[in-house]
Amino acid sequence: MNDFTFYNPVKLIFGKDQLNKLSEELPSYGKKVLVVYGGGSIKKNGLYDELMSLLSEIGMEVHELSGVEPNPRISTARKGAKICKDEGIDVLLAVGGGSVIDCTKLIACAAKYEGDAWDLVSKKASPTDALPFGTVLTLAATGSEMNAGSVITNEETEEKLGWGSPLSFPKFSILDPTYTMSVPLNQTIYGIVDMMSHIFEQYFNEAKNTPVQDEMCEGVLRAIMDNGPKLVEDLENYDLRASILIAGTIGLNGFLRLGYQGDWASHQIEHAVSAVYDIPHAGGLAIIFPHWMRQNVHVNPERFARLAVKVFQVDPEGKSTEEVAYEGIERLRSFWTSIGAPETLADYEIDDSKIAIMADKATSNGKIGNFNPLGKEDVEAILQASL
Ligand code: NZQ
Ligand code: ZN
Repeated sequence: MNDFTFYNPVKLIFGKDQLNKLSEELPSYGKKVLVVYGGGSIKKNGLYDELMSLLSEIGMEVHELSGVEPNPRISTARKGAKICKDEGIDVLLAVGGGSVIDCTKLIACAAKYEGDAWDLVSKKASPTDALPFGTVLTLAATGSEMNAGSVITNEETEEKLGWGSPLSFPKFSILDPTYTMSVPLNQTIYGIVDMMSHIFEQYFNEAKNTPVQDEMCEGVLRAIMDNGPKLVEDLENYDLRASILIAGTIGLNGFLRLGYQGDWASHQIEHAVSAVYDIPHAGGLAIIFPHWMRQNVHVNPERFARLAVKVFQVDPEGKSTEEVAYEGIERLRSFWTSIGAPETLADYEIDDSKIAIMADKATSNGKIGNFNPLGKEDVEAILQASL
């Protein structure tokens, strides 16, 4: 493994009725809070009312930004930053899934930046200060609740870019599995695919000698594959929701990336697809990732074969390393299909007309991925196979 420094300052507050902890966490950052949320799921499941009465009890002055889109847009973050500046907001509270949290991260940094918020996403400028923010997570998927990453879409230029800063870690995140029970079947499936994909991105890395990290990745994957199918059959099961919730957090809070970067080409390809077609992030991953795997078995067949045996229970007896590797990929494909994840871009009515544009976007800064850096033609081949 490579040398590394691990830093994650997020206070994680997990379990039933933990929303009450807001009364300890929020007031220490000031009185004026901007509550950021999405399209209304928190109003339907009762969380909004519960939150507002708690905030009023603890004497917070509440401002609101609603309507954060799935695949959050720069225009919404700009709106949020303006509210913060105009109203002198002290602290932000993101209440929702990864999109709401990602948007809040940008608002928090843009509120303390003189120029345009997109400068921070496009890396024209780095944040030098930020408002503090906490999160109340309502959807298990991205890990955004315990990392500093954020993915923002510029709807005018059709770009979807990831950025992050030591200033974009939440101060605290409250994870009550109860609030994830209302997540509909399709989003529950996407969440499972996303967290598994994060682990694959880290598992296929550029380092050697990572036996502890390998076992951690494989163990979390097995737990997701054990609990995920049960959850899609029993959406209001607290224990299953809790297991999937913590799996999503561990999947991308840095614990599984000690001593390497991971690959991340599949994510970059997916971000290019959803920049152009605005499809759900993990819907795109479910289609793209198995094709990335098939294209890259040759780089390290032993690694794919190990995953096949340890996670997908492939019996290696009498088979070549490559055969075991490919059988594992087919089992992943079948697993995702069995829980209801999409298989082809045609499932989203995407044809081949913009493949070159998407491949260009994915590789606009050069080759992508660390396990096996891919150029534009490699990306085109993956997208072509995904049709
Ligand atoms: O907007 P509302 O009404 O809240 O509805 C949301 C949205 O429609 C709904 N939802 C959330 N919690 C719910 C609920 N519905 C019912 N009950 C609940 N409790 O679910 C829909 C999707 O929400 P969203 O936040 O978009 O989903 P997710 O958490 O999967 O986030 C996806 C975004 O995160 C980015 C993706 O690219 C995408 O933009 N990512 C962020 C990462 C990070 N920051 O580390 C890493 C990921 O790889 C990913 O790229
Ligand atoms: Zn993801």
